[in-house]
Amino acid sequence: MLQIKNISKTFNNPYGSSNTVFKDLSLTINKGEFVSIIGSNGTGKSTLLNIISGFINEVHGDILLDGNSITKLPEHKRTQLISRVFQDPSLGTCPSMTVRENLSLALNKGSLLNLKKCLRHKTEDIENLLEDISLDLKKYLDVQVKYLSGGQRQALSLIMSTITNPKILLLDEHTAALDPKTSNEIIDLTNKIVKEKNITTLMVTHNLKHAIEYGDRLIMLHKGEVILDISGEEKSSLAIEDILEKFEYAV
Ligand SMILES: Nc1ncnc2c1ncn2[C@@H]1O[C@H](COP(=O)(O)OP(=O)(O)OP(=O)(O)O)[C@@H](O)[C@H]1O
Ligand SMILES: [Mg+2]
Repeated sequence: MLQIKNISKTFNNPYGSSNTVFKDLSLTINKGEFVSIIGSNGTGKSTLLNIISGFINEVHGDILLDGNSITKLPEHKRTQLISRVFQDPSLGTCPSMTVRENLSLALNKGSLLNLKKCLRHKTEDIENLLEDISLDLKKYLDVQVKYLSGGQRQALSLIMSTITNPKILLLDEHTAALDPKTSNEIIDLTNKIVKEKNITTLMVTHNLKHAIEYGDRLIMLHKGEVILDISGEEKSSLAIEDILEKFEYAV
């Protein structure tokens, strides 16, 4: 379970003005829950993920993972527990290494093996990771990642970030840079992985169809506050128009 307790965050800019993004935000995400987060530009969605991942660590409040506070844990230590996939397909993988090498590194995440030993994995083990993955990744095992398409890279990033079964998966508009068909393939893959592995997942998206159709719960943030929090029947029966209306009236 992820508990965000009374989080406040103000950014101070060099010219003296300040921007309070969160004021006393509390949120509990249950174990294994797949949560879609929507909201207008600049409303604090990425900041929330950055606070959970530890990329932003100067915050008031507390973050607890399975009852233990991780608030003081630096970002590099949180990566053992929390994985991320970003909007930009070039982040999250090592572009000059092959698909096989990237997967081998991900399989050894957190180990103290040297690079050469890290890269030693049986083809069969690596191929198993790509079983049932569309986008033909298996054919590209020995191709450098920089030559893959954005969709293939996002599929690879997703597989890499979930190989070691993180406690939390943070997805920040991870399908936004993809064409509609590839975007649908990546959201299907996301759903398959997080459900199979029962990974607690927070997915920020501007794709309202994805937000309604996927995930167990839908949260809408506005100016750092939760203005909608629904799940189950209430969520699946929601229409895109209902959400658009919320955007319209969120002031
Ligand atoms: N490191 C930072 N320094 C100063 N201000 C920041 C920083 N990070 C975020 N902000 C500000 O915090 C506010 C929330 O930004 P955030 O990136 O969380 O929005 P968002 O909801 O993810 O928007 P979008 O949908 O456009 O990605 C914005 O006003 C942004 O300028
Ligand atoms: Mg953002």
